[in-house]
Amino acid sequence: MALERLHLHNWDFPDSDDSGLHTIHPYPAKFISSIPRALITSLGVAPGTAVLDPFCGAGTTLVVAQELGVPSIGIDLNPIACLISRVKTTPLPAGLTAAALRVVQATHAGTVTVPAIPNVGHWFNEEVSAAIAALVAQIDRVPDASVRDHLRLALSSIIVRVSRQESDTRYAAIEKPVSPRSVREQFLAACARIVETKAARSTPAASAVVLESDILAVTPELIGRGVSLVVTSPPYPNAYEYWLYHKYRMWWLGYDPIAVKQQEIGARAHYFRKRHATFEEFRLQMASILRLLSKVLVSGGYACFVVGRSRIHGVDYDNAAMIAGEAGRAGFTEVDRFSRVIRAGRKSFNLSHARIKTEAVLVLRRS
Ligand SMILES: C[S@@+](CC[C@H](N)C(=O)[O-])C[C@H]1O[C@@H](n2cnc3c(N)ncnc32)[C@H](O)[C@@H]1O
Repeated sequence: MALERLHLHNWDFPDSDDSGLHTIHPYPAKFISSIPRALITSLGVAPGTAVLDPFCGAGTTLVVAQELGVPSIGIDLNPIACLISRVKTTPLPAGLTAAALRVVQATHAGTVTVPAIPNVGHWFNEEVSAAIAALVAQIDRVPDASVRDHLRLALSSIIVRVSRQESDTRYAAIEKPVSPRSVREQFLAACARIVETKAARSTPAASAVVLESDILAVTPELIGRGVSLVVTSPPYPNAYEYWLYHKYRMWWLGYDPIAVKQQEIGARAHYFRKRHATFEEFRLQMASILRLLSKVLVSGGYACFVVGRSRIHGVDYDNAAMIAGEAGRAGFTEVDRFSRVIRAGRKSFNLSHARIKTEAVLVLRRS
């Protein structure tokens, strides 16, 4: 019955148009929310268990799970991904607007040191850097952790816009008319947008837990509860560089993008260095993750992977076929596979270099 329900969907979701909470911060290769919604509603989540997304990115699975009243757990290596996921899934803290205004007001007093960020002068004009540094310093002094998270997310969302970087997906430096005043105004506008977006939603009742970790270091104990459904879209070789996309956001917010790059699965940098990473390494990483999933999933639970193809040094690789093969060795059976067309021209989605046109939705059942 659950599996039959999967066939009621057009997996291309031609009419999907995410807005509101899903768009409060840019993120590359995000799910359209229709995908986790279709998987959760079709396959169901057993009472007392949770949905797990081991590569939760901007938290789409967690947001949809909350809308459906289902507890969820998300894991991601990237601290910006975790910040976005946390903010999207926690209730709006009281007094956010007042706190944002106080932060901006406080930036006018005293001087501030711009942190030692590589190449900062190339990407940010000096006055803009000072304005951002002052905002970071004042946000860091906000005592309430949830207010602080919301303010940090608002600042993160404007970093590329106030930099010289042409856009989120174009790494050319261009001159833009940005002043310290417009940095503060854009920060306040981003806060207002978060408040407005959240105020329009009912407060989520289901819990969502976000773990910031390399998935390869996660144990079943860390996940800590029974899972009856996994919904995820893994990173894969040579497709996207999440660390690069968020590099300056991480520097400004005090994280280390180079450490993230080193642990990021599939990052293009690993495939174009002297010591080339290989598809075989990716296979071993996926095998290890499937073994973890097989330990945390209840018997009869499902793991769904949305994954495209990779091209490494001119050779095409079918990631879905590889994951299905490794899943078999980890105690899973492939029960269905859909091919879906990825709509070109989606804003935060650059298809040109990877030439990805379709992706697979792989449905595996834990024996
Ligand atoms: C395709 S994206 C997930 C997007 C997500 N479905 C969404 O809707 O936003 C893949 C994610 O895998 C994460 N990732 C890469 N290597 C990782 C690792 N070693 N451990 C945990 N997460 C990792 C990336 O940071 C990225 O957020």
